[in-house]
Amino acid sequence: MEFIDYLNFQTTQDSEHSTQDFSLVIPLYITEPIALDVDEKGTKRLFSPQELSQGKKLFERNCINCHVGGATLPDPEVSLSLEKLQAASPRRDLIDHLVAFMRQPMTYDGTQETYWCRQLSPSSTSQQQAESLAAFVLTAAQKAPGWGTDSF
Ligand code: HEC
Repeated sequence: MEFIDYLNFQTTQDSEHSTQDFSLVIPLYITEPIALDVDEKGTKRLFSPQELSQGKKLFERNCINCHVGGATLPDPEVSLSLEKLQAASPRRDLIDHLVAFMRQPMTYDGTQETYWCRQLSPSSTSQQQAESLAAFVLTAAQKAPGWGTDSF
């Protein structure tokens, strides 16, 4: 089965002094299950195009206002690019670590809780949904051109 998914990101930012409009289209082609690293032991898990698509929808619903195109609008230094995810401590380019982060967002150096990012409670977002969301973020970081650049 072939499945093609386009990510269409659009947002409008208002500030006191200016209204900035920008839209960004990032194509992400997913035609087959994608293997992603789950933990530091090297465990891999396959995510189907349907799961990634579910993750994309969750991202659009919960994250896009601050993380359009993988950027982090309130704090551009901490984007969702693969490079930044890898360099965080603990590293965030693993499914388990990303899920743990979404359950309890931490500062980039991992020393403190942060209240800037959105926390996903188990009652609002199941483990399966959180894993799909993490898989979407990692796949976009690995494959979508321009994801997480801070050049806005
Ligand atoms: C209200 C704005 C906001 C929303 C909504 C939001 N975030 Fe964040 N996010 C941030 C900010 C700000 C940071 C940087 C926090 C810090 O380092 O203190 C961040 C950091 C992150 C990081 C760490 C990036 C890195 O390079 O280490 C990840 C991963 C992340 N967010 C994922 C998500 C996901 C997934 C969602 C949706 C469920 C989400 N965020 C929703 C503002 C937001």
